[in-house]
Amino acid sequence: MKTDLEGGYLVSDKTGNGVPVLFIHGYPLSRRIWDPQKNELSKYATVITIDLRGHGESFPFDGAYSMDLLADDCKFILEAEQVNAPLVICGLSMGGYITFAMYRKYPHLFKGMILTSTRAGADSLEGKTNRDAAIKLATDRGVDAIANNMINKIVSPLTISSNPGLVKTIHDIMANTSTLGVIGALQGMRDRPDSTSLLSQIKCPVLIIHGEDDQLIPIKDAESMHHLMPGSKMVKVPRAGHLPNMEQAREFNRIIQNFLSDIC
Ligand code: MLT
Repeated sequence: MKTDLEGGYLVSDKTGNGVPVLFIHGYPLSRRIWDPQKNELSKYATVITIDLRGHGESFPFDGAYSMDLLADDCKFILEAEQVNAPLVICGLSMGGYITFAMYRKYPHLFKGMILTSTRAGADSLEGKTNRDAAIKLATDRGVDAIANNMINKIVSPLTISSNPGLVKTIHDIMANTSTLGVIGALQGMRDRPDSTSLLSQIKCPVLIIHGEDDQLIPIKDAESMHHLMPGSKMVKVPRAGHLPNMEQAREFNRIIQNFLSDIC
């Protein structure tokens, strides 16, 4: 579905029946990363996926994409898709940063939260410098250069050697992000707030999923979140990097299915 918004539009999908689950992709990706979830989980859940502004088929809006702005876009899409709250929200990486922003602004929306391949902390000084270097790279050499830089880090070494088809799909998804989308997301992530103090205030059930071989966000960051949320459940996915939902899709779907049957 294409929904108009302030001089542009956002693209989303809703499919299946049952408890609503919103999947929010990371940077610089699109709702296509959730195809393995859409196909399987829609048998017993309503799966909603969104292309964040500047990503996938959504309009390449100009300006910085703060996590609050992206959270409002997600809320807007839930209304446009007529999704009834409460629902489960699953954010991957930058999608996790957006999930925290949604919880800060709209806690009543949450029946459950799934945090995958993400962290609660803000960018370090070095991290902010790296964002500025990536903005320069995207401006000077385009999004292909960003995709080429990230592809060997976004999946596990095993995925690189054993699944070239998947690696190509992920590279294509990244390379299809607009330049404005890449720059807007980098600015928003660079300036995002620290969500660590939010963790102890989260009242809904929380599931943390992390690839054991994640080279972009080390698994120790997920373990730190888990320790600060004693009621949370954490599952580590072997043989997966930053995209366990694609690299080990069957295992990832099974973990989500178990979580949904526990909380619904
Ligand atoms: C993502 O996958 O969304 C990014 O790697 C997150 C980040 O760069 O902090």
